[in-house]
Amino acid sequence: MRIGVLTGGGDAPGLNPAIRAVVLRATQLGHEVVGIADGWAGLIDGRARPLVEKDVAHILDLGGTILGTSRTDPRKDERHQRACIEQVGKLGLDALVAIGGNDTLGVAQWLHGRGVRIVGVPKTVDNDLSATDYCIGFDTAVSVVTEALDRLRTTASSHHRAMVVEAMGRDTGWVAAVGGLAGGADIILVPEIPVTAEEVVEAVRHLKEHGDDDIIVVVSEAVEIEGLDAQTSIERDAFGHPRLDQRAIGASLARHIEERTSIESRVVVLGHLQRGGSPTTNDRFWATRLGVSAVDLVTAGKSGVLPVARGGKVAVVTLSEAVSTTRRLDPELIELIGRLAGTRPQH
Ligand code: F6P
Repeated sequence: MRIGVLTGGGDAPGLNPAIRAVVLRATQLGHEVVGIADGWAGLIDGRARPLVEKDVAHILDLGGTILGTSRTDPRKDERHQRACIEQVGKLGLDALVAIGGNDTLGVAQWLHGRGVRIVGVPKTVDNDLSATDYCIGFDTAVSVVTEALDRLRTTASSHHRAMVVEAMGRDTGWVAAVGGLAGGADIILVPEIPVTAEEVVEAVRHLKEHGDDDIIVVVSEAVEIEGLDAQTSIERDAFGHPRLDQRAIGASLARHIEERTSIESRVVVLGHLQRGGSPTTNDRFWATRLGVSAVDLVTAGKSGVLPVARGGKVAVVTLSEAVSTTRRLDPELIELIGRLAGTRPQH
């Protein structure tokens, strides 16, 4: 069997371990592997190269993706739709493994509907794919947030400042919540918990009055804060997602806190630092498990499915189940934020 592998959407630490697992397992089973460059863009153009064991021998600890990636949606253009299907034939592919998040897996599901044998692997630092407990890349991203908070605590404390730390995560608060809790943030703002600017100001004042001299606020990039302006004229990517970094919610919040409380405030936008660097143990481990599993699934003739993490084990779900909804923070985590880093008084 000849298996194509591609990585799509935003890069994430753990993609290379997943590619490695696909190549090692496929080779072991006697398959050939073809690496497709730059996600769906590379499939449209037929840019691909054979991948053998030695190509993946030293990539386990490497961030990014050796295949390259792109945010390309081939469904938007009829010529691209045709090209994708044609290239599967031209490249002689019997099956495809698509490693990606909601967008990439949405395209994979579409290709499955057009008769291409395809299996996904769940990856996104946002950790927002439904049907899986865990997405490759998330653990490394939250480790970056935690480490940043450790570092920011000492400078905030030395200057008696408030630090507003803007985290990625798109429409869900996984990165801000888990990174913020692990790093001991004083206030965590996530899209799942409605909040007003006045509540944030009150919470900061309250912390200050109770002797907190280094106030750390973690804000997720998509949070809507009532009473606070964020930039509204922002670009969108090929999948229609707004460029959330351009909202500059962190900067706006830091300014507001300083104006309303007179506490000197600074913003730190963690941005793509959260997506860079060597993957953590957890990301490598799950990438390896899920990559091997994806190859086993295509070998067994499966299509339109993906291996996921469920209760510490690998389970298999359909692509349509995985992309049908966005997985939001669960109520237990929302409650925990309320208790330890909320803006409303707790009892
Ligand atoms: O989906 C992953 C993600 O990192 C989001 O958290 C963020 O909003 C977006 O991608 C940034 O995308 P880009 O790399 O295109 O700027």
